[in-house]
Amino acid sequence: MQPIAIYNYKGGVGKSTIAVNLAEAAADAKQSACAVDCDPQCTTSFYMLGTPKVVEKMKNLKTIRKMMNWIGTNDKLPYSPKGLLISVPNWRAKLICGDMTLTELEMQMVLKGIGEAQRIWQALFNLNDTDAMDQHWPIIDCSPSYSFFTIAATFCASGGIFIPVTTEEDSFYGITLSARAIQKVAAYIKAAPKILPKCGKIKGIICNRVEPKQKSPLLAALKFSVDVSRSAYPDSFDPDFKILDTILPEDPQIPSIRANHRTLKSYAPGSSSAKSYDMVYEEIKSLLS
Ligand SMILES: Nc1ncnc2c1ncn2[C@@H]1O[C@H](COP(=O)(O)OP(=O)(O)O)[C@@H](O)[C@H]1O
Ligand SMILES: [Mg+2]
Repeated sequence: MQPIAIYNYKGGVGKSTIAVNLAEAAADAKQSACAVDCDPQCTTSFYMLGTPKVVEKMKNLKTIRKMMNWIGTNDKLPYSPKGLLISVPNWRAKLICGDMTLTELEMQMVLKGIGEAQRIWQALFNLNDTDAMDQHWPIIDCSPSYSFFTIAATFCASGGIFIPVTTEEDSFYGITLSARAIQKVAAYIKAAPKILPKCGKIKGIICNRVEPKQKSPLLAALKFSVDVSRSAYPDSFDPDFKILDTILPEDPQIPSIRANHRTLKSYAPGSSSAKSYDMVYEEIKSLLS
């Protein structure tokens, strides 16, 4: 399946939790999947591998930075992501490990100019190549801010951008920000029509941490926000765009699952949130096919 990006400018809405557990739900449904950690905070990598282990291993691990190491060199071809897929004990999904030094790379790009940002784009575009991905479905976890990496990742996600929101209304602003960025970048790369049509547009919104009684007021407010964004930036939305029917519940077990680097399924099999992830996977799969 084509790569998707999980994006919201707002931190703490559940991007990393969703990327990891969605990858696992997909792997559980016999779809090879991998979480791609494109956030310098490395939450996804810490979640799956464990913090001390990652820090200790970071120097030796092949991380996403390897795909981008050719920046500032004369190398022609970006590194194939296949060699970066890591198997994690107790997880079915694979991981492309994040790298805290991406912030340093971003600083270099600022100093070198916007041309380098396009190379990041090209490097990440490899995620669209199913052979280069060894047939794994990439689910890209983005950082909250609209950094070079987030922009590159969202546009390389030809399967679409999925935006998690919570009951906090300011999380809805991620929809408008994303739509606005897509419009701006689309205008900028109009000269590359072969690439743009299949680059990421907003395909879905995932409601996270919602109690049953909060569902209908949330949906009413959210639909209003979506309508405003769509009328301002209609081309930034995929024709199949939808607010996912499945709502991920507030689950008090999630913090300890993360702390213990466990999959939702192994920790709480049969729980309503584990089942919800299976349903989110099925909905996204049908949107991508
Ligand atoms: N459905 C949920 N129920 C309870 N806590 C959640 C849920 N989803 C995420 N969290 C918690 O919210 C916090 C932020 O989640 P995270 O996935 O790191 O967000 P982001 O990647 O958007 O910053 C974490 O402490 C996580 O454990
Ligand atoms: Mg995160």
